[in-house]
Amino acid sequence: MIDLAIIGGSGFTQFKELKVTRREVIHTPYGEPSAPIAYGTFRDRSVAFLPRHGTAHTIPPHKINYRANIWALKHIGASHIVAIAAVGGIGSEMAPGVIAIPDQIIDYTYGRDHTYFEHDLDQVTHIDFSHPYSEGVRQQLIAAAKSAHVPVVSHGVYGATQGPRLETAMEINRMEGDGCTLVGMTGMPETALARELGLDYACCAVVANWAAGKGDGPILMKEMEAHIERGMERIISLIQVLTETLRR
Ligand code: HPA
Repeated sequence: MIDLAIIGGSGFTQFKELKVTRREVIHTPYGEPSAPIAYGTFRDRSVAFLPRHGTAHTIPPHKINYRANIWALKHIGASHIVAIAAVGGIGSEMAPGVIAIPDQIIDYTYGRDHTYFEHDLDQVTHIDFSHPYSEGVRQQLIAAAKSAHVPVVSHGVYGATQGPRLETAMEINRMEGDGCTLVGMTGMPETALARELGLDYACCAVVANWAAGKGDGPILMKEMEAHIERGMERIISLIQVLTETLRR
């Protein structure tokens, strides 16, 4: 029985606080997941951890086998997923260092294997994706953040871009016009695949930088890393409370 599955993003490829009891390589009909799944206990609850960029952070966003990752988590019995992601800030409240729990997505990715519903179908299948994240998990994240005294922005429109390059300033202007307040490279198709498999999935995003053209000067990797590192400490506190209070 897995109480919570966590997908780690950039800056969170190892979950050092997790007391790992075993690791398992899962073979899926869609190929290999990004890494073996680490099982362990965290605050006396059973937690599974999967780093989406691989254990050594070597898999770029457009090469991640999202289908294998989500299938593997379903296969091991996870029903609730919290996906950690580093993002750029577009909206004025999304300054570097902010943690946001987005509630909407716009997908700008292309050429990624983005559905389980394409071969050997009895019937063409469409999923409802009006509200892409699990509101239940989102509200539990927001409540956990409050108890952990971790300030979070409790909404956000995640624009998922292809990467691995960052965006141009004009692309960000266009995304802002579309309503995006955050930009990241891994939110899709991961979120939709979780919905296709009926998993309760929400995202906890740490803003690493002002998106292109929103800050002064170029986006510096060193600054991004520093914001991600500091953000991750707060995310761990938040996850700690979430794990303790998780309602299943
Ligand atoms: N754009 C896309 N993805 C990102 C960014 C960004 O500015 N920062 C962190 N992930």
